Amino acid sequence: MAGHPAIAAGRAAVITGAAGGIGLATALKLAAAGMKVTLADANAERLEQAREGIALTTNRPDEVRALALDVAKPADVERLRDEAYAAFGEVAVLMNNAGVGNGGPVLGDLEKWRRVLEVNLWGVINGMQAFAPAMIRQGTPGVIINTGSKQGITTPPGDAAYNVSKAGVKVATEALAHELRNIEGCKVTAHLLIPGFTFTGITANLDRPKPLGAWTAEQVADFLLDGLGKGDFYILCPDNDVTRDIDERRILWAAQDIIENRPPLSRWHPDWKAPFAEFMKGPSPCRS
Ligand SMILES: NC(=O)c1ccc[n+]([C@@H]2O[C@H](COP(=O)([O-])OP(=O)(O)OC[C@H]3O[C@@H](n4cnc5c(N)ncnc54)[C@H](O)[C@@H]3O)[C@@H](O)[C@H]2O)c1
Repeated sequence: MAGHPAIAAGRAAVITGAAGGIGLATALKLAAAGMKVTLADANAERLEQAREGIALTTNRPDEVRALALDVAKPADVERLRDEAYAAFGEVAVLMNNAGVGNGGPVLGDLEKWRRVLEVNLWGVINGMQAFAPAMIRQGTPGVIINTGSKQGITTPPGDAAYNVSKAGVKVATEALAHELRNIEGCKVTAHLLIPGFTFTGITANLDRPKPLGAWTAEQVADFLLDGLGKGDFYILCPDNDVTRDIDERRILWAAQDIIENRPPLSRWHPDWKAPFAEFMKGPSPCRS
């Protein structure tokens, strides 16, 4: 975990979507490393359980705060910033991680579309807008982590609204990294967390056993902290079924749809099934 100067005992982190899953696992690890944490989530009941759990584990109840909010509302996120600064005087780590699925297909329900974009994309934009200027002004090392998805990169059919939201998170986070590195003296960096299949409430029934292919949220949190320590921008997690090599090939194939003038999403097109299968079996087309 050592490695990134923003992640250090005594410094402060803010995590959205922290009542469960990847957000809670990351909050637990940061708190265990001696950081002060502010947890934020829409689910007030689970959030309070998370706060109590971390306070018990660390035995530092004064250094764990929680705020129930809706990341889709800019005023809520501004309140989160104000409360985090009022409590701990600084923010070293911001993790814009709250997310929802089930936006549906392109021609599906408009309200579902809107909600997924409001939470997954606008929630992240609200977080960056509210926190980044203050974090830059601090003049101390800081990280802004936005949780994206492989679905925002290879955009598989099934949940177009979710894919669009996560593609937006990727683009916005890349742009943030560029903007931050062009601000003189800025010590804040941006990072895109790209989880693989992870056993959390968004993907699975948590009352059932973990599917063999899935990683645990704790594995994702460890991978994230390791990637931050190495200074990685793209923190591309594997899972128990999908290796980095498989991800690299899928990402390259998707990009080559444009270059090769193939139909979009050719990976799922019957005419391209065999060529895609061949591509996945052949010699690695990527570094790695
Ligand atoms: N689990 C996976 O396989 C997977 C894969 C890729 C990306 N992700 C992304 O990881 C992030 C974390 O999800 P998770 O897998 O830990 O699932 P999760 O459901 O355990 O966590 C998401 C949290 O976000 C909270 N949330 C939802 N809407 C909110 C809102 N409007 N305001 C504040 N909080 C809100 C939920 O209450 C929940 O606690 C999400 O952005 C998700 O899209 C997950």
